[in-house]
Amino acid sequence: MCGIFAVSGSQTNAGAVVIAGLKKLEYRGYDSWGVAIRREGKVVLEKQVGKISEAQHEFEPATEAFGHSRWATHGGVTVQNSHPHRYGRVTLAHNGIFENFASHKERIGTGTFQSETDSEVIAALINEHVEKGCDPFEAIQNTASQIKGRFAIILCIDGVDGIFAARRGSPLLVGRSADATYIASDIPAFLEHTSTVNYLDDDEIVWIRKDNVLFADLKTGKSIEKRNIDVPWSEEEAQKGDFKHFMLKEIFEQKETISRAINQPSELMKSAAEVLAQCNGVYFLACGTAHKVAATAEYFFADISGRKINVVAASEMPTFESFINEKTALIAISQSGETADVLEILERGKKKGAKIVSITNVEMSSVARISDVVLPLNAGVEKAVASTKAATAQMAICFLLAHADAELRGRGIFNVGRELLRETSTAINELLNPRYAEHIHAVAEKIVDRNNMFIIGRGSLYPMALEAAIKIQEVSYIHAQGFAAGELKHGPIALIENRVPCLVLGDDPETISNAMELKARGAKVIGISPTRADVFDEWIRVPDCDGAQSIATLVPVQILAYQLAILRGLDPDMPRNLAKSVTVK
Ligand code: M6R
Repeated sequence: MCGIFAVSGSQTNAGAVVIAGLKKLEYRGYDSWGVAIRREGKVVLEKQVGKISEAQHEFEPATEAFGHSRWATHGGVTVQNSHPHRYGRVTLAHNGIFENFASHKERIGTGTFQSETDSEVIAALINEHVEKGCDPFEAIQNTASQIKGRFAIILCIDGVDGIFAARRGSPLLVGRSADATYIASDIPAFLEHTSTVNYLDDDEIVWIRKDNVLFADLKTGKSIEKRNIDVPWSEEEAQKGDFKHFMLKEIFEQKETISRAINQPSELMKSAAEVLAQCNGVYFLACGTAHKVAATAEYFFADISGRKINVVAASEMPTFESFINEKTALIAISQSGETADVLEILERGKKKGAKIVSITNVEMSSVARISDVVLPLNAGVEKAVASTKAATAQMAICFLLAHADAELRGRGIFNVGRELLRETSTAINELLNPRYAEHIHAVAEKIVDRNNMFIIGRGSLYPMALEAAIKIQEVSYIHAQGFAAGELKHGPIALIENRVPCLVLGDDPETISNAMELKARGAKVIGISPTRADVFDEWIRVPDCDGAQSIATLVPVQILAYQLAILRGLDPDMPRNLAKSVTVK
């Protein structure tokens, strides 16, 4: 949520480097942007409303610059509210939420602020400490101790060389190349320059100058050493290539990503299964699409290992937190590994002694670093806001984990699960071709003018109906709702009227009966299933993948959502009001 990026080096095109880097972080927020360059001791600010990808601005030569691509929290989408903010001698960009900003704002003087943001108040506090004679580290330390909430900040102070950054709860990392140092909220910002990274931990600060990088503990001020880590992501992988959108590219990447997820070392899977075995309460925590994956995992575990797991949307977990103790396993599913709702529960759970297993795409993310066992998705960078390849990789890992659990409990064989996933991956591979996408496009054309859509599924296809609804809602803005197929007759069927499109996931006899009930009330029935039923007005075939059917079924649903967005003239990579990683609560 909000992209922040800074560079300090020997090249004089810092402004252009920052713009280029922010364009690669645009998925984190895209309502407005701003860049500060430092030139001959002065800060020059450029801020605009709109997408950074459309920015054309030319900057004067400078060796230091930083910027921000915003997803609004405090205050509307205006030039004044966009970052960086300038207060006194301090220029600052912020990602996070400063919960107690209002009291500080009032004390300093509401009339002295240009924006409605919480972030400008951080700049004012740092400025206040600088004016009192604190050195930059002390000023940032003192300010950090006044902030309740999460933050990643990048700033410069007039009269002081270099750029400072600090974090607590929001992601921030440092990239190191031969001629420059970068600070960013995500790796893609600087991947074209370097893949050598230092991860900043909570309550750490970094000061970058031309040839000098200094890390310190934010609380004690003591300098610290950081390990250089080479990330396995490539710049090419983070580009769209021949695809028109990241969403489509990432859907097609499922040809490889599912098999990459399956090829986890079996020992790693077994160590995660052992965590489950040692605990007497298992909670799967996740948000959005990852939460629907967790809901599918509930079916996997019930069917495969006979274990009852608890699945809770992370934002709802506070109600159940009193059940967490040292015998609890918290299984976090998060593509980004930075989702605040998930992270906060894990932080509190850790303090109570709970064991943490994470299923994440970013191996050095905050969620990963707090975990006892990390199961990496290995899906490569996922840039489209709509999660696709990460979702199927997460499902594959949950499926494997259920098999590892079954083996440990003497109820099944791990390799049988892996083999079924291999077959599923091959079947999906065969599916993902332009002809298949064209067929789905033709179906999309027939329903694109409808404002409501319903999706039904049974068993592990029920959470897929919920996920289908999220995918369609977020990229096409069609009101879509998913239901358990058997629940229709208990209320939702009242919504069915002439020509309302209803996606029917699956072809088991009971679901087909429910499809007939829909048809009898005028619905346009679109089957997504291995076999064609007479009741279907349209049919999208999926291979028969037995226990892994939910994984295969998700793929055409993703393509359909994408096609609906395109037919409606929308940009599926940047849906309105959303951001890729949600680092605020
Ligand atoms: O990074 P995470 O997996 O924790 O993100 C969770 C949700 O924000 C995410 O899945 C969201 O629902 C996607 N936009 C759905 O496509």
